[in-house]
Amino acid sequence: MNIYVVGKQWMWKAEHPGGQHEINALHVPTGRPVQLTMISQDVFHSFSIPDFRVKREVIPGRYSTVWFQATTPGTYHIFCTQYCGTNHSAMIGEVTVLSPDDYDKWTQESTSGMSLAQNGERLFASMGCNACHSGSAAARGPNLAGVYGSKLQLTSGSQVLVNDAYLRDAILNPSQHITAGYAPIMPTYQGQISEDGLIDLVEYIKAMQSNYRVQQTLTTSQSNQAAPTTPGVVKP
Ligand code: CUA
Repeated sequence: MNIYVVGKQWMWKAEHPGGQHEINALHVPTGRPVQLTMISQDVFHSFSIPDFRVKREVIPGRYSTVWFQATTPGTYHIFCTQYCGTNHSAMIGEVTVLSPDDYDKWTQESTSGMSLAQNGERLFASMGCNACHSGSAAARGPNLAGVYGSKLQLTSGSQVLVNDAYLRDAILNPSQHITAGYAPIMPTYQGQISEDGLIDLVEYIKAMQSNYRVQQTLTTSQSNQAAPTTPGVVKP
């Protein structure tokens, strides 16, 4: 299972694919390999869980990953181990390791009602991405369904593996990643989407294995809320 971690001065944010969000806390089950895909919103940080013998740089502009498999329920310290400013020493948190059953309970109780992919689908529409990436044969941009995990031929002649890092960079620096057969018309989205929003978009594109829409499962309580039309977008 993959969980996203976004570091910033001075906190750790964890984002689970199901839409559970945590700050300075991370819930994981025992007995399953957990991969963390991490990025910083500002300066260099370093994510460490000493009890798990885990430590990895968390830097701006690039995903880094680390994985572990927890064996014993309990709580364990999270530290930032890279000096990152005044409150570096307060950039701490706690991992809570639960049995698989307790973890399932936790994910149900902590759900925000919208998975990352569902948030991504909204963002994809609100930012107008679907105007070009509509998936139809006449579309001005490539069909993104099933693109994740594939090898892509670019106009530059190079071949790339489409993974999280590639998708993030293709959104921010599209001119460097033109798919063969398409015109370089996509504008950059640098500075317009937060790291959280980029994670949502990446999860949505991952979920687009065919031309299917991510099932919207809005509950009554949520449809009563003032729904953000552009979740994750950086406000000027
Ligand atoms: Cu973040 Cu030290």
